[in-house]
Formats: sequence, structure tokens, C-alpha cells
Amino acid sequence: MAHSSKHTPRTPTYLLPCVIALSFFSLTALLLYKVDDVASRTGTVVGHNLEPTPWHVFPTKSFDEETRQSRAYKIIQCSYLTCGSADSGGKTGPSFAAKDAKQQNCPDFFRAIRKDLEPWKKTKISKGHLVEAQKYAAFRVVIVGGKLFVDWYYACVQSRAMFTVWSLLQLLRRYPGLVPDVDLMFDCMDKPSINKTEHASMPLPLFRYCTTKGHFDIPFPDWSFWGWPEINIRPWQEEFPDIKQGAQVVSWKNKNPLAYWKGNPDVASPLRTELLTCNDSMKWGAEIMRQDWDAAARSGFQESKLSKQCNHRYKIYAEGYAWSVSLKYILSCGSVALIIRPQYEDFFTRGLVPLQNFLPVDPLDLCPSIKRNVDWGNKHPKEAAALGKRGQDYMESLNIDRIYDYMFHLISEYSKLLDFKPALPSTALVVCEESVLCFADEKQRSFLSRSTVSPSQTPPCTLKPA
Ligand SMILES: *[C@@H]1O[C@H](CO)[C@@H](O)[C@H](O)[C@H]1NC(C)=O
Ligand SMILES: *[C@@H]1O[C@H](CO)[C@@H](O)[C@H](O)[C@H]1NC(C)=O
Repeated sequence: MAHSSKHTPRTPTYLLPCVIALSFFSLTALLLYKVDDVASRTGTVVGHNLEPTPWHVFPTKSFDEETRQSRAYKIIQCSYLTCGSADSGGKTGPSFAAKDAKQQNCPDFFRAIRKDLEPWKKTKISKGHLVEAQKYAAFRVVIVGGKLFVDWYYACVQSRAMFTVWSLLQLLRRYPGLVPDVDLMFDCMDKPSINKTEHASMPLPLFRYCTTKGHFDIPFPDWSFWGWPEINIRPWQEEFPDIKQGAQVVSWKNKNPLAYWKGNPDVASPLRTELLTCNDSMKWGAEIMRQDWDAAARSGFQESKLSKQCNHRYKIYAEGYAWSVSLKYILSCGSVALIIRPQYEDFFTRGLVPLQNFLPVDPLDLCPSIKRNVDWGNKHPKEAAALGKRGQDYMESLNIDRIYDYMFHLISEYSKLLDFKPALPSTALVVCEESVLCFADEKQRSFLSRSTVSPSQTPPCTLKPA
């Protein structure tokens, strides 16, 4: 026994480095495996690891990163290692330099906020409401202590999610310490989904960019106010003044005395299909053009610049598949907006008044109705020009500051309805400006950076008591 024990092989000197190397490699492999595993389960603001919303399918996104490894690295880097020290500025209270500034009342259309939230006034909003609303949501937004957390369920088309999340981050930056804790569900596609009849027994609170009179969906300012890089639409505070200036290049007298529409008629919209039949300048006083986005992209969007599309006295707005972001740009021209009776509304359209800042068009009598409006305007150029101007003034009053105020009041009023205290969800990731920028491509980053705000010197406008 002693003999054999004496010959127990002693650890040979070469074995130790081998063991260390081996454990190092297996640890590294394990770590890489773990990283890859986490990365492949992490949803992101650009849609990594997320399916398109099943209620509106769109082509799955492709990503820039060349290899699986570089993608995993980027996801980990941007999602987990970027916001650590970032302070979204929620802790410090507001400090309004212009303390004596007279506090402005909010525009009248802000009243819609209370109307939109009316369904939950008595019942309040419970966790149960959110669990049900989640079935219709692309993501969940939680704000706690001025920090933003997002739970991703589905990808959003193009960069909608990115620009919407950015808008919330900018709201937090603009009003540090003022935005209350909140927990809400958001869908980023165009069609409202909470039908008032079908959900009568339990209205579900779901934010999106539009609603209808027959839906409970809560309208929220759409992403394009912060930019729509895919079609080169810049942040609102750049786009509006540019359109307004471009519109002045041709005087009213010299503007084309026809009703103009340019857009995509191939969006399964019977209305737009019918609009094509009005394309006769002699008979209907209308010019209907097809927007070819591929060609526009190839030419660097020079021809499709919105500021160059204000040379007609009348501009037609026609809903497409659902609601359309184009209305704000049409109104901005100062031409007479001919709005074909819309089914959808977004947050600001509730302030529009027929015959005051636009002319309504009857969809059941489409071409003749357009023609009547055009004839009226050409007989009454002064009145027509003034009406167009009032439409433009309305859009001018909807500056980006007012839009943040709308978001602020909507979120604040909504948060008052929650019957629970919003808490950090275990599944949600903190999102900060740096992490959004980390995922953004070069063009997106440029658009995002240009819409960065600074803390407001004045408090939000005053929402009139109910
Ligand atoms: C809501 O649902 C009802 C019943 O399914 C349907 O008849 C109605 O058209 C829907 N309303 C809207 C606005 O889609
Ligand atoms: C409408 O008519 C104009 C002039 O005739 C034509 O150039 C244009 O292509 C037509 N629009 C559509 C969508 O066909």
C-alpha cells in the first residue's frame, strides 16, 4: 500500500496550466454561449428577436450586423451596458427659470384627453386591464422615478418604435421630475383595435397613433413629429417652417387653381381607388398623382420634398389603409385642405373645425364634391386664401412644445387612473437616450439628435379643470 501510494502519480507540472487553460476555455465558451443566449432572447428598439405584430404583418427586418456574434455583441452592449450610469434626470425637481412667466392655458383640443380617458373614470385602470391590453400591444412602457423601461412584445414597422420611445425620453428630459410614474400598453400599427361594442364590458386602455369614434384606443402623437428617416421627413420643428416658407414661393394668385393629391393609391383603400377617377382637371378640377417612394428614394427625395408640394390652391386629404400622417403636412401648406370625411382621428385633428380651417368633402359624392369646393374657392379667392391660412396657423400653433404638453397631460391624467403603484417590471429593460442612439443607424441618429430638447424654462400649459 505504502509502495503504491508512493507511486501515486503526482500532478505533473504540465497538467496545471492545462487545467487552467481548459477551464478558461470552457468558461469562455460558457460565457459566449450565455451571451449568445441572452442576446437571442432580448427584444430591442429596432426589433431584434421580435416578430412583426400578428394583426398587421410586415416583412421581417434585416439587420446591418454581419455575423451572429457581432449582433449578439451589439445587443448586449446597447441593451445592458449603455444605460448604467445614464441619469435620465428624473430625480431633480423642476426648476423653471421663467417663474413669473404667465402660465398658458392649453389649447382647446386638449379637452379630448379627458374624453379619451372617460371609460376608466369610474372603474380605474387595474393590473388586470393591462394584462388584457397586452394582447393587443407591441410594447409596454413603464416610467418609474423618471426612468423609462420598455417590455417588447412585437416589432414595429420601420423606425416607429425607436422614434416613439425617443419622444418619451425627450418628454422626461424636458420636464425633469414632473412626469409621474406610469404603466401603459402601446401598439404602433395604424388600425385601432379596441372596438367599443366588443369591449363594452371591459374597455382596454391601449395607446396608439389614432382612434375612431367606435374605438377605445387612446391617441398619442405619432413618431413622425420626431422624424421619419425612411422617407426623409424631418423633425416637426424643422419640417413645418420649411413647408411654410416653401409655400410662400408662389403667391395665391399664381398657385395652380386645382385640387391636388399625391400619395400611394395601392393601400387597399376603396376611397383612394375612387379618388383616381377624379383625375381630370377640366371635369373635376383635380390632379391625382401617384407617389413612387422607390423612385423618390433613388433621387434622394429631392422631388418629394414636402415644401415643394404647396403649389396648388387646394390639397386633398384621403385616408389610406387607416389614418395617415400626411394630414399635418397638407394643412401646413396654407392651401385649402379638402378633407374627405375621415373615419380616423389623431390627437390634434379633434381641434379642426370644418369651414373654419378646412373644407369637408363628401366621400359618397367624391368628385362632384371636390369640384364644388374648387369652384367656390376660385370664385372667392380672398376667403379661400384666408381659410387655407387658418389651417396653416392651426398647425403652427401645434408646435413641438405643445406636443410635449399634450403627452405630459395625457400621461399625467392616465396615471391618475391607475389603481396600483407602477413598479419596475422584472422583464423590462431600462431604455435611455444612449441606448436608443446605440441601436440607431447613421441617418436615424442624425434625426434623433436634431430633436433633442433641453429642460423647459416654463411649466406645461394648464389643462382646464374638467
Ligand atoms: C365593432 O364590432 C361590431 C361587432 O363585431 C361591428 O359591427 C362594428 O362595425 C365594429 N366597429 C368598428 C368601429 O369597427
Ligand atoms: C392623372 O392625370 C395626369 C395628367 O393627365 C397624369 O400625368 C397622371 O399620371 C394621372 N395620375 C394617375 C394616378 O394616373
